[in-house]
Amino acid sequence: MPISFNEKTRQFRLSALSSDYIMTIAPGGYLAHVWLGEHIPDDDLSYLLRLDEPPFTPESNDRDRSSYMDVLPAEFPCFGVGDYREHALSICGEGGTSTCDMVYKSHRIIDGKPPLEGLPATFAADNSPCSTLEVTLEDKAAQLEAVLLYTVFENVNAFTRSVRIRNTGDKPCTLTRVYSACIDLDRSDYDMITLNGSWARERIPDRCRLHHGKQSVDSVRGTSSHQHNPFTALCSHNADEDTGEVLGFNLVYSGSFVSLAEVDQHERTRYVIGINDTDFSWELVPGGEFTAPEAVIVYSDKGLGGMSRAFHYLYRNNLIRGKYRDIRRPVLINNWEATYFDFNTEKLLGIARQASELGIELLVVDDGWFGHRSSDNSSLGDWIVNEEKLPGGFAYLSGELKKLGMKLGVWFEPEMISPDSRLYREHPDWAIQVPGRRLTMSREQYVLDYSRPEVREHIWGMMKNVLDSADISYIKWDMNRQITEAGSAALPPGRQKELWHRYVLGVYDMMNRLTTEYPDILLENCSGGGARFDPGMLYYSPQIWCSDDTDAAERLKIQYGTSLCYPCSSIGAHVSVCPNHTVGRNTSFTMRGHAALAGTFGYELDPTRLSDEERAAIPEQIEDFRRFNHLVRNGDYYRIGNIFSDNTWDCYEFAAADRSEAIAVYFQVLARPNYASRRVRLKGLDQAAYYYEESAPEKLYSGAALMSCGINIGGLWGDYQSRLLHFISK
Ligand code: GLA
Repeated sequence: MPISFNEKTRQFRLSALSSDYIMTIAPGGYLAHVWLGEHIPDDDLSYLLRLDEPPFTPESNDRDRSSYMDVLPAEFPCFGVGDYREHALSICGEGGTSTCDMVYKSHRIIDGKPPLEGLPATFAADNSPCSTLEVTLEDKAAQLEAVLLYTVFENVNAFTRSVRIRNTGDKPCTLTRVYSACIDLDRSDYDMITLNGSWARERIPDRCRLHHGKQSVDSVRGTSSHQHNPFTALCSHNADEDTGEVLGFNLVYSGSFVSLAEVDQHERTRYVIGINDTDFSWELVPGGEFTAPEAVIVYSDKGLGGMSRAFHYLYRNNLIRGKYRDIRRPVLINNWEATYFDFNTEKLLGIARQASELGIELLVVDDGWFGHRSSDNSSLGDWIVNEEKLPGGFAYLSGELKKLGMKLGVWFEPEMISPDSRLYREHPDWAIQVPGRRLTMSREQYVLDYSRPEVREHIWGMMKNVLDSADISYIKWDMNRQITEAGSAALPPGRQKELWHRYVLGVYDMMNRLTTEYPDILLENCSGGGARFDPGMLYYSPQIWCSDDTDAAERLKIQYGTSLCYPCSSIGAHVSVCPNHTVGRNTSFTMRGHAALAGTFGYELDPTRLSDEERAAIPEQIEDFRRFNHLVRNGDYYRIGNIFSDNTWDCYEFAAADRSEAIAVYFQVLARPNYASRRVRLKGLDQAAYYYEESAPEKLYSGAALMSCGINIGGLWGDYQSRLLHFISK
């Protein structure tokens, strides 16, 4: 049984594939954290609580040293009762005070996993079952209950947590912080890995030793952000790609978040993750409930690679949905870098004619098809086709594409409003704003108040008209600015701080509508490139545009960082022209194809302007995509090179789950003089099996040789070259 409760020792055990999450009801009724790591059989591990530490802090049981709040490893610490570390819950209760104190009331164990109201979350799947423990805590004085939700997955070392706060009293109560998870770890010798960056260089890993005090990444921007990702790993100092212990944390949320580790006075680490409480509060009316987004926790004793593969498994099986999850997605061509705003039907069809001959299956019309938009300074919110550019609208275009055997995709930015738009002239109060204050502009646009149902309804109506006007197979949902002057014309003063979260819930509501009413449309999320690459978005869209930087060498870094937590099959990646539009670099066409192959794969260029040689390479690249995409979708991903520790080369591998085949893609990023070949060691193969490389089938290698001795890769000339090797077991 994956979840058990020992009545005698009052210990809860959640057993995942080969790891345990253990808690106990400690003296005083506090739910205490005991262990998170490899499987430990003992029924009573309460000695791990270390309740005999001499404190110099308040203690709830006076001189009975059994409940020192500042020492107790707490599952859901509250503010105000003597635990001075980061807390998970604080309130503004009756009389304006903040204190709360949650103790055990009851629990129940459920097969499967109930959904989280209005929020994206992992779910039970036939091939990846799970069980859930609900522990109800109560604060009688504040008349609040906290239902802690823990799910454990049987086939992967993953756990999820969330919490529902319930007002059981007869007066309103304001929540000022509700984090999704707190985990107290009895050591501090960790490195903390986070993903950081900016526009065009998202999710670059950073690794540093934990030290006393607090260290965190967060967002207060209203999106999960380019700057930091809601992902953190805590790992042993010696953990590397293949060995060592790692705990990975990720928040299934697309708005402002915090992910924080604190090393305390006893060299223990408290880790918390949840909605950022900056400018956050939530009023709970009597009987009302608030649900915090889900935190995912992954345990690996096989280094960072093991952690990544656990996240990939969980997200591919228990988070991503829809018919495109399990099938090869159409090869698309997007006109953004090909034309920017300067396009019309004729130009698009010129691109499409050439593209269809080369084997491309879907044309995406990016920004600029609506209102009177011919630069980024107008028309967001006016989702009506500009018939001067596209006579006959999408109906005509999709008809013409169909004749070419191609499908149509369309770009939207549904959360935005341009000051120069009909929508803004009619509904200026629909923009998020603080009355009487100048409204900050970003990319000449404002953010729509998605907390308001009537705003969503209106935008939905316009989107629906477009979607019903033609055969549209794909949507790119973009979001190109952050929130400033947070204020809603529809919320009373006491609820203004709910706007940030209500906005995110509004976005989820719209995406839910879109995916429910148009289940056959392939949805790709995007936010100025990859500012909302998070598991919340993955619940609605099986792929997310990873970065506006399409340079293959930069992509090696961005996709390396992204792959730490997110499956490669979700990473939006396209081949574009050189010199690259973001960094001006020239890379080989082959390398651009090989970088995109480790993602969704597609093109972002005008094929009519390519050289004959480049054009000829496209059908070959598409052939590779068709042949190997099943490995990207279902195989195990291995990072062989590390571009951050040696910037001259990189290599990734996808191995079939049954070890029958693998592709290894090698990049010669910078050529090295007097260096004929590089030895590359493969991973994840069957030691005892024999493999051949497809281009030289006569030579057999044992899995042991390929993994322990490696192969020599040479013969590449110049910078930014690459080669794909396909190993097949005999
Ligand atoms: C964002 C996206 C791009 C493109 C432009 C259009 O920057 O990331 O891919 O769609 O918007 O304005």
